[in-house]
Amino acid sequence: MKITAMRILSAVGMSCALAFSGSALASDKPIVVKFSHVVADKTPKGQGALKFKEVAEKLLPGKVEVQVFPSSQLFGDGKELEALLLGDVQIIAPSLSKFDRYTKKVQLFDLPFLFDDMEAVDRFQQSDKGKELLNSMRNRGLQGLAYWHNGMKQLSTNKDTLQRPEDAKGLKFRIQASDVLESQFRALGANPQKLSFSEVYQALQTGVVDGQENTWSNIYSQKFHEVQKNIAETNHGVIDYMVVTNAKWWDGLPADVREGLQQAMDEATKFANEEAAKLNEQDKQNIIADNKAKVVQLSKEDVEAWRKTMEPVWKKFEGDIGADLIKAAQEANQ
Ligand code: LMR
Repeated sequence: MKITAMRILSAVGMSCALAFSGSALASDKPIVVKFSHVVADKTPKGQGALKFKEVAEKLLPGKVEVQVFPSSQLFGDGKELEALLLGDVQIIAPSLSKFDRYTKKVQLFDLPFLFDDMEAVDRFQQSDKGKELLNSMRNRGLQGLAYWHNGMKQLSTNKDTLQRPEDAKGLKFRIQASDVLESQFRALGANPQKLSFSEVYQALQTGVVDGQENTWSNIYSQKFHEVQKNIAETNHGVIDYMVVTNAKWWDGLPADVREGLQQAMDEATKFANEEAAKLNEQDKQNIIADNKAKVVQLSKEDVEAWRKTMEPVWKKFEGDIGADLIKAAQEANQ
């Protein structure tokens, strides 16, 4: 009797000890959060990712380790969304142009001349309709955590003149993987080619394409201005990001970790969005100072001509995107 009772007691004691050491071991091991993106560290998104790491590891000491992989080091454009769904990476922040296989609604952001400026983009993203889009891909396994700004797009080519829409006619342009952008360049009578971000510099340098569209920050950090002749300040569209995670992974996190990561994301968002305006202005000045490509200023009439030429794109995609969403975005222009 006595011996059996002792055996039971020691068995209980052992399993308690095991359970305790098991949980101690689990909490010893931080959850690894891989954050992969395609741009350089010294860009709005690059800075945002580093800030997220800093704040998350401060808020959740020993509980999470955030590993940031910039410049397509881990996954490039073609692979990062798949990798997220497979669990090979936990957070990515593709540009809003790169979701069209997952939802047609986010294509809204690619409509040419939709937003007057970045303040309007921000107002729309913070509106109910804008926030709804963060949850619009849950049925595809993606959870949006935040929008991050980059900035307005400018157009560049390797030709001598770039002032009017006719100057883009017949030229080959690199585009992101978006059907709206494809249609935008077709409206100009140009030939769009979908290429990953990491391939753009070489494609411009070797003449595989004649031009591209991007923000000042991306143009400068990738040195596109060194292999282009003209950059027209068209501000014809926006490059912003949706920071996304794998919905199943996110939902399965311990509640305190999820809350801490969301708080870190909110702080990183604020920081990245402030940096975006500064970095784009700074990089525009850097490009002018480098004096390799010419920065072309457009008159009001020039801008109006670009707008008119690209206008048919709106009608074409209104059905896919939704007229209500387009209207809400326009209202953000005030
Ligand atoms: C591009 O592919 O041109 C950009 O969207 C890259 C980025 O993430 O800013």
